[in-house]
Amino acid sequence: MLELMYKLMEHRSHEIRHRLERVGRAASMLHMDVLLLIYHFARFGPGNILEIGPYIGGSTIAAAFGVRDADAPKKIVSIEAGGHLKHFRLSSRNIIKDLKKNLARFGMTENVTLINGRSFEETTKSAVGQVLRAGEVGLFIFDADNNVRRDLECYGDLLSDRCWLVIDDYFGPAKAAPLRAQVDELVSAGRLVPFGYYGWGTWIGQWHRNESR
Ligand SMILES: C[S@@+](CC[C@H](N)C(=O)[O-])C[C@H]1O[C@@H](n2cnc3c(N)ncnc32)[C@H](O)[C@@H]1O
Repeated sequence: MLELMYKLMEHRSHEIRHRLERVGRAASMLHMDVLLLIYHFARFGPGNILEIGPYIGGSTIAAAFGVRDADAPKKIVSIEAGGHLKHFRLSSRNIIKDLKKNLARFGMTENVTLINGRSFEETTKSAVGQVLRAGEVGLFIFDADNNVRRDLECYGDLLSDRCWLVIDDYFGPAKAAPLRAQVDELVSAGRLVPFGYYGWGTWIGQWHRNESR
């Protein structure tokens, strides 16, 4: 945990922060510290990346920057339901269109496999299965609705033991309470191990394939 805090502090004073500030302004609702941690895990963590809920791409681009700076090639698969959303700073009338536009703007179109669908739909699961194999995912980013347990049931087999998890909305209004209850239950069951709470209310931790308590 202390090592993670230390790494974050280092990234905050590195040039990546300036690159990610541009991404954050254009395309992310997430706190800069969370974008930096996504970058860090994507760059230095082993394995591929699975994301649920990119919206217009901020978190996806942070991961893609990390992969571009990594020593080994990695796949990024991002699942987005699409539609439209009103937001005080980052509204979108067509989420998929704006997502593609932002990936192109930051030069990341080729680096991301985008799947347009709901995470739990059979067509989505089968599209993910075409790209990712069991135990291959080293970073799972969940910033979608309030049901992370459902998506861990759908995709848990793809996650490696000690896969990093970034789960947004652990703290916050409306959707936070049920999501927090699910995360806490999974922690009690030994499936998730917390490493900290960052930004506006993002839970950071690891996945344990087998119960560790
Ligand atoms: C809070 S936004 C994500 C913000 C983004 N990660 C960022 O960096 O700003 C949540 C997104 O999740 C999508 N979403 C919600 N439930 C979903 C699901 N079950 N499957 C796929 N996408 C979902 C919504 O359409 C929305 O674009």
